Amino acid sequence: MNILVTGGAGYIGSITTAELIQAGHEVIVFDNLYQGHAEAVHPQAIFVEGDLADRDAVKRLFDEHPYIDGIMHFASYTLVGESMQKPLLYLRDNLTNAANLLEQAIAHGVKRFILSSTANLFDDPERMPIDENERIVPGSPYGESKFFIERMLHWFERLYGLRYACLRYFNACGNTPDRGEDHDPETHLIPLVLQVALEQRPHITIYGNDYPTPDGTCVRDYIHVIDLARAHILAMEALDRLGSRKYNLGNGRGFSVLEVIETARRVTGHPIPSVIGPRRPGDPATLIASSETIRRELGWQPRFANIEDIMRSAWEWHQSHPHGYKA
Ligand SMILES: NC(=O)c1ccc[n+]([C@@H]2O[C@H](COP(=O)([O-])OP(=O)(O)OC[C@H]3O[C@@H](n4cnc5c(N)ncnc54)[C@H](O)[C@@H]3O)[C@@H](O)[C@H]2O)c1
Repeated sequence: MNILVTGGAGYIGSITTAELIQAGHEVIVFDNLYQGHAEAVHPQAIFVEGDLADRDAVKRLFDEHPYIDGIMHFASYTLVGESMQKPLLYLRDNLTNAANLLEQAIAHGVKRFILSSTANLFDDPERMPIDENERIVPGSPYGESKFFIERMLHWFERLYGLRYACLRYFNACGNTPDRGEDHDPETHLIPLVLQVALEQRPHITIYGNDYPTPDGTCVRDYIHVIDLARAHILAMEALDRLGSRKYNLGNGRGFSVLEVIETARRVTGHPIPSVIGPRRPGDPATLIASSETIRRELGWQPRFANIEDIMRSAWEWHQSHPHGYKA
């Protein structure tokens, strides 16, 4: 298939692009390099630098590549904390950018769409692990923007026959030897811990150790980026057969912040000093995904179920790229 990957110069999008190419698909990457890196784009992908906010640029993209079979939409403002400070970036820009993309997708007859959605839809879960029947309570303008885009897709299916899958991922992590996580600012626990191991930060701050969890620190579900990439490809390939779908994507196992830090200490051999800070507003104690539906329907299985293997893959990349994609 010919797949358009928005955000294909970013962390998850670049690794999914590489997996798509390895699986024999053709890829067009559209990215404005706001957070992405041109070096991360697979050399066999067609790279178009452009902004989804620019309607003319999006129209040109489809006019010049009229053979797109499906879209994977990663490009987004992605930070929960930032969305609490700058809600319009999320409630206006994330939505407008998705609408600009969908407008041209429909105009050009594209019928398949995969959305990077999020666990931030489930801020107050009634059951753990969290399955697709859990009530939706977005935890921030970021989560709300993803929920709105899910609703847009619902209407575009009814009105235009677009088939879509919403993949609500939990914490993406891990790297491949060639591509990894390089955000500015970095907000994710594993790269932050590894920056301490590289002596780029003095310590890691643990936000709260009085949560109702076994060791008092927050528990999260970490899913390796390769497992995420494979889920995207399976979901895209199954859309014609199964129709539109929503899948929660995680390992189904939670690890506390302390367990992640301990694992990093073992893998890197560095003592990784830690400091206890106050809780961050809006951080739920525990978030663990049930991925039973995608396992059952698509035969998806995480290959990196073990936090040790995830940490090792992240550490290898951070050691070989201590300053990310910068030389
Ligand atoms: N990283 C996670 O743990 C996680 C968890 C759940 C959901 N997600 C979602 O997955 C997707 C990818 O996340 P990521 O961590 O790879 O983020 P990322 O920031 O590394 O990648 C996003 C890419 O989109 C590009 N982009 C942003 N706005 C754009 C625009 N207007 N036009 C064109 N390109 C634009 C950026 O330059 C970047 O390359 C996002 O939609 C995010 O919300 C991520």
